[in-house]
Amino acid sequence: MSGLIIDDVSMTFELPDGGKVEALKNINLNIREGELVSVLGPSGCGKTTLLNICAGFLAQTGGNLSLNGDKVTGPSPERGMVFQKGALFEWMSVRQNVSFGPSMKGMPKAEMNGIVDHLLEVVGLQDFKEKAIYELSGGMQQRVALARCLANEPDVILMDEPLGALDALTREKMQGLVLKLWKETGKTIILITHSVEEALLLGERLIVMAPRPGRIHKEYNLPFAEMGVGADLREVKKHKKFGVVRDEILSMIWDMEEEIMGRTESA
Ligand SMILES: Nc1ncnc2c1ncn2[C@@H]1O[C@H](COP(=O)(O)OP(=O)(O)OP(=O)(O)O)[C@@H](O)[C@H]1O
Ligand SMILES: [Mg+2]
Repeated sequence: MSGLIIDDVSMTFELPDGGKVEALKNINLNIREGELVSVLGPSGCGKTTLLNICAGFLAQTGGNLSLNGDKVTGPSPERGMVFQKGALFEWMSVRQNVSFGPSMKGMPKAEMNGIVDHLLEVVGLQDFKEKAIYELSGGMQQRVALARCLANEPDVILMDEPLGALDALTREKMQGLVLKLWKETGKTIILITHSVEEALLLGERLIVMAPRPGRIHKEYNLPFAEMGVGADLREVKKHKKFGVVRDEILSMIWDMEEEIMGRTESA
């Protein structure tokens, strides 16, 4: 079966004091090839845990995962990860960062340079190839992180709040870039975010998770990602349905946060 199949996945962490945390309970998701999925939910509902399991960094305590029919048992270049920040090699140049994966695979230099040049053009950093990472702004660094991930030719790109550390304007530009990359590369993308608007813009399918235990609360199929490709995202946000779904999700998450606070206060 093609795509990423998350079949009844659960994750229970055992704590040193003997306690347990049910970070995920019975998660079922079939993500088709080329799908753009955003995941939203209050802090602690298991978003990062789910992504780490998809990446193979963590082994689930229940259920199974497969990608294009192959069981996921650990990390692999076919599942690339883009973190919020800090995952680049600071002392290396932009070019060296992006060519890291291909060079580890032993790709011939000429071929590797061609791929790196192309990817840096895609993310708009063709003039910054020889710069060191510390010389770049936060938005540029995230573009390097995207290019580095793409250089490994993953089938699935897993993003854990990739734009969370950026200022509003840069973030908006990067949202447009994510949509462009999605359309041009046809990759499957799973993107976690705390921003309801971002989840609406960057999810053909938006998944709202709920905490304790971490689970899927609601799913939406949305037209905004498709509408936003090559378009002004501010115009997309003005769409009537955008406002309606945004308000519905905001109240949903607000209620969850209230419930968490209530439980904490009465504990
Ligand atoms: N290694 C671990 N050991 C014990 N508990 C953990 C571990 N990792 C995560 N947890 C717990 O699992 C739950 C889910 O954590 P996770 O980091 O996946 O949440 P999240 O939805 O990504 O939150 P945030 O939005 O704050 O990033 C939390 O209660 C967290 O404390
Ligand atoms: Mg997280």
